[in-house]
Amino acid sequence: MRLKKRPWGDKVLSQNIDIVLSGNDFEKESFTDFISHDDLVIEIGSGKGDFIIQMAKKYPDIAFLAIEMQSMALAYAVRKIQDERLDNVLFINCDGTYLLDQIKDKTVNTVFLNHSDPWPKKRHHKRRLTYPTMLAKYDRILKDDGQLIFKTDNDDLFKDSIEYIDESNFKLDVIEYDYDGNDEYDAKTEYEARFREIGTPIKRFIATKKGE
Ligand SMILES: C[S@@+](CC[C@H](N)C(=O)[O-])C[C@H]1O[C@@H](n2cnc3c(N)ncnc32)[C@H](O)[C@@H]1O
Repeated sequence: MRLKKRPWGDKVLSQNIDIVLSGNDFEKESFTDFISHDDLVIEIGSGKGDFIIQMAKKYPDIAFLAIEMQSMALAYAVRKIQDERLDNVLFINCDGTYLLDQIKDKTVNTVFLNHSDPWPKKRHHKRRLTYPTMLAKYDRILKDDGQLIFKTDNDDLFKDSIEYIDESNFKLDVIEYDYDGNDEYDAKTEYEARFREIGTPIKRFIATKKGE
């Protein structure tokens, strides 16, 4: 969903350039240092940041890179943590497709996709974050034992994503059609909270690489 621009949004982002970078900042040391962390986790489409902030607090030794293309969503996220200075979370305001090309081969432990946009029209399917072109990118950046963890409220997106996985270099280790949300290595997102409230089952899979 497109978020309404608020006058305070750009100000929050420009005042917190140490925790929010843009797609022009890939040469910056703060970015190159962050992505060199031994335990690097990426979320694409982080929205207002609830998931990544909870995870960063729960796992202080993991480096969490959150990618979100809507600057206003990031402004909400940054506002939540600007007084806490969590040093293990970095937000990037850009398209995840482009960001992934900056990440080195086999350096990422987990890619999280939470309630990604479903793009229901067939002509838009290639924009889905689980589309085969994206799976090939995750395959390249994930370590051999790395995981792709996807959860969604959307039945069609889930069904199609399982088909994409079946055709890819990933295998499904876990498939849940009514995930209870209690996995320790997880946190509730804004969309998840909304859908749980109205009783929509949350679907989830965990995929790992089949190997070379
Ligand atoms: C439906 S919202 C879900 C937000 C959050 N993950 C949640 O579960 O509450 C999807 C978010 O993904 C972002 N998004 C979609 N495609 C993206 C891409 N290619 N790169 C970065 N962000 C993307 C959208 O801007 C939007 O904020």
